[in-house]
Amino acid sequence: MVIGVVDTWIKPSNGLLTGAPTPVVAAVSGAVGAVLWWRRHRPRTVCVVVMVGYLAAFTPVALAVALYTVGDAAHRAARVLALYGLAGCAVALGSLAADHSPTDPREAGYVLALILGPLVVGAAVGMRRDLVAAARAEVAGLERERHLLVERAQAEERARIAREMHDVVAHRVGNIVLTASALQVGPLAHAEPAVGDAAERIRAEGHHALEELREILGVLTPGRGRGARGAPRAPQPDALQLAQLVEGANARGQHARLTVNGHPEALPAQVQRALYRIAQETLTNAAKYAPGSEVALTVDCRLDRIHMAVTNGPATRPLPAELPPSGGNGLIGLTERVTLLGGTLTYGPYQDGFQVRADIPHPPRTGPGHLGPATAP
Ligand SMILES: Nc1ncnc2c1ncn2[C@@H]1O[C@H](COP(=O)(O)OP(=O)(O)O)[C@@H](O)[C@H]1O
Ligand SMILES: [Mg+2]
Repeated sequence: MVIGVVDTWIKPSNGLLTGAPTPVVAAVSGAVGAVLWWRRHRPRTVCVVVMVGYLAAFTPVALAVALYTVGDAAHRAARVLALYGLAGCAVALGSLAADHSPTDPREAGYVLALILGPLVVGAAVGMRRDLVAAARAEVAGLERERHLLVERAQAEERARIAREMHDVVAHRVGNIVLTASALQVGPLAHAEPAVGDAAERIRAEGHHALEELREILGVLTPGRGRGARGAPRAPQPDALQLAQLVEGANARGQHARLTVNGHPEALPAQVQRALYRIAQETLTNAAKYAPGSEVALTVDCRLDRIHMAVTNGPATRPLPAELPPSGGNGLIGLTERVTLLGGTLTYGPYQDGFQVRADIPHPPRTGPGHLGPATAP
């Protein structure tokens, strides 16, 4: 717009308006420049208007910009490009002819270059943008495909490990269940009811373990380990089962006490499961490493945090000569579980015994930042 207005006083010819009062020509030239405001919305219409303005007031810069925009917008339509190129040339040559001074062929060449150049550059810019977009889309597609392949490989690997684990553990636990069942109906249990009770507890625990194992396998290998209606075989443990768990431990001769503040049964399922697993593992550890000890379990649901502590006192019975095999993964596994929820797990000797404390934020933070490998304590 500014160039159009200022040009009016500088250049010798002003198209059809040559000879009109300079302010009039300046106003027309400025208006032609202003029309470019709409060039992105209606490139072709604006270009036609600018061509008319060019004929009237000779505005080469405005025409160059309008043609550049048409080239960019219509770079896929060769016919439109040709049409506007020809129209631009006709307008330029027409304006030169209307100018009464004799036409210099070099000037005609210069004017045509100023018309066709922007059109070609605009088309090239548009094509380049298309190419870049296509390349980006292809890269994104490849990336997605790679991601899917990795995911599938991971799922297959998980399923393989799960099947392996199932086959190994199910076999052993199955033997335990069968042996306990035989003991339960054998003469020893008839003579001594306590033996029968113990055998029944062993059988029930083993049976439960097998069910849970099958459930985990079902989660890891879709289509396997699920009931006919696709429902899980066994419900996932939740906070309501904490009391049951503690009762079971007491029935096995432990001295455990559960204190619950608040309503853990209203927490998200994965937090409830974590609380259950913490209780399960710490009760087992207390039975293993501090037989006969008092175990205090407290669950404290606050507004923004859930706090759980399991503290056991000193052993009151001698440790068995041979401890059950130690995987050493129990507390590490709990730490990973709690870390995934954005919380922390600490444990260690406490007074004469041992303490495990978990702090889980509420609501749990299970963003991608917490899905990375959990750090071992
Ligand atoms: N209640 C406890 N009393 C004493 N030591 C414990 C107790 N709980 C855990 N520990 C110690 O912490 C270690 C790690 O426990 P854990 O990760 O559960 O592995 P595991 O039970 O397979 O040995 C145990 O080997 C034991 O030395
Ligand atoms: Mg353990």
